[in-house]
Amino acid sequence: MRKIVIAGNWKMFKTQAESLEFLKGFLPSLGETPQDREVVLCVPFTDLSVFSKSLHGSRIQLGAQNIHWEGSGAYTGEISGPMLTEIGVRYVIVGHSERRQYFGETDHTVNLRLKAAQKFGLTPILCVGETKQQRDALETESLIINQLEKDLVDIDQENLVIAYEPIWAIGTGDTCETKEANRVIGIIRNQLTNPNVPIQYGGSVKPNNIDEIMAQREIDGVLVGGASLEPASFARLVNYK
Ligand code: G3H
Repeated sequence: MRKIVIAGNWKMFKTQAESLEFLKGFLPSLGETPQDREVVLCVPFTDLSVFSKSLHGSRIQLGAQNIHWEGSGAYTGEISGPMLTEIGVRYVIVGHSERRQYFGETDHTVNLRLKAAQKFGLTPILCVGETKQQRDALETESLIINQLEKDLVDIDQENLVIAYEPIWAIGTGDTCETKEANRVIGIIRNQLTNPNVPIQYGGSVKPNNIDEIMAQREIDGVLVGGASLEPASFARLVNYK
């Protein structure tokens, strides 16, 4: 039985005051959310402590957006696993395309960060996906298989979530056709040794397409940017039909 994981990725949005405002609007809607859905919010580091103080008794799981591979050290600007777990963080996004594109993240560093997440007791959400150029060149499948081969070296597949995020669909309003997303996620699943790893879709997920996305056989959840920032739209996503 595969777990359903609905995760918001706030990226570099929301101050602490704005986070509290969001929670005020969002928390009541969780009353309608079926128990078998894991609800995760991956928020900026400064918001994590606000959330850890405000979430007691709530079923929201706290997620971070990065983790360094060492437990501590001279790594200016980075954050470590023990710092995250101490305040109740359970999930961490690793290998998001924005980190690969703008911050020099490579498959090697993605692999190191995945190992660190697991070593320190966090569940990593590994992001993979192709650019528009790669899709047009019919390289989607080979690119993703290659990313998985490199990223998952010596990674425990019992404690892992994967997100398929076609880069061309992120923040563009240009959603990957749901059947195509389902097909690619099936390819990802075939590469895994554990068939029960939850695999999410990410890229312009909105209230108007969530029901169709979640109706696909292979799709076990979503990783959402823009539509997770407003209480009403994220509520609609976690309460998909
Ligand atoms: O991590 C989330 C993805 O980058 C999707 O972002 O929902 O704004 O397209 P989006």
